[in-house]
Amino acid sequence: MQSEMRVLGIETSCDETAVAVYDSEKGLLAHALHSQIMTHAAYGGVVPELASRDHVCKVISLIEEAMTGAGSTAKDITGIAYTAGPGLAGALLVGASVGRSIGFAWDLPTVEVHHMEGHLLAPMLEPDPPSYPFVALLVSGGHTMLVKVTQLGNYTLLGESVDDAVGEAFDKIAKLLGLGYPGGAALAALAERGNSQRFHFPRPMINRSGLDFSFSGLKTFAANTASEYALDEQTKADIARAFQDAAVETLVIKCHRALRLTGLNTLVVAGGVGANLALRAQLQHMVKEEGGAVYFPRHEFCTDNGAMIAYVGCQRLLAGHKNGLAIRVLPRWALDAI
Ligand code: KG4
Ligand code: ZN
Repeated sequence: MQSEMRVLGIETSCDETAVAVYDSEKGLLAHALHSQIMTHAAYGGVVPELASRDHVCKVISLIEEAMTGAGSTAKDITGIAYTAGPGLAGALLVGASVGRSIGFAWDLPTVEVHHMEGHLLAPMLEPDPPSYPFVALLVSGGHTMLVKVTQLGNYTLLGESVDDAVGEAFDKIAKLLGLGYPGGAALAALAERGNSQRFHFPRPMINRSGLDFSFSGLKTFAANTASEYALDEQTKADIARAFQDAAVETLVIKCHRALRLTGLNTLVVAGGVGANLALRAQLQHMVKEEGGAVYFPRHEFCTDNGAMIAYVGCQRLLAGHKNGLAIRVLPRWALDAI
């Protein structure tokens, strides 16, 4: 087992090709990313075949970019990490094939990384990282989860969405209001101009015990409201505001419950919806009242990135993990099955 490592990390699970170099002593040395948003926007969602093809086109030049940015050559790298799941099978296979092949060619240990573990631990890339144990709220386009993180590799799922992910609900309402895809950030910007008193949307599942979420009813409520009014700019903003207020309050209530239930007072927020400013402000307020602290990754590491994969890969390799030569992907890999 090595005590120092410099890891090349590759992320291709969905619609971002991302690569980074993380050093156990010096921290993050470089990261490079290509977003496929423009490729998929015309279709209103990610087209898996186009995602795979684009990863193939971009991944090598991004590896070169990250290696150059890190001032590293092949001989400086001591391990390879790639996202093995969950995600789109064809897209994952690109990172898996390239990562595994480089590992073979450079004769380096190679490790499979769980994409969600990457998101959970992304705040560890910041100068003032949280210490274990903590509760993590993972809010992305594909997931809404509350997880108790006891230490690296020890994750207990406390609750998750029984239907739509919160980011997915943001994206669907945004589409309905003509804000394009993925519209979460645009919907949040529109909500800033909305009147919070005009509509009141339900806060789903808050009267039920437990920590699961449901956003499909809220999405339908917003869609029904939109169909009852002429959608002038102010009405759109008011709907966006009512939706965001309901979604954010629901998330804050469940986070509060999760902290109380676990007896912890450190909260980590990860995933693309973690960029939402209203969510950040209200979580900060709630956690402060609990006498605790909330940690967010920097904006660019809230969404998919290679840095979180290189980081987790490095920790796992340092702990002695590595995988065999098979090019393996796990599109439905459960977090608690790591
Ligand atoms: O983690 P992520 O990049 O991708 C995965 O789903 O893996 O998260 C993307 C999601 C999208 O649904 C996007 O609309 C949402 O995060 N999002 C936001 C904001 N910025 C991005 N949702 C609400 N408010 C935002 N400011
Ligand atoms: Zn993600």
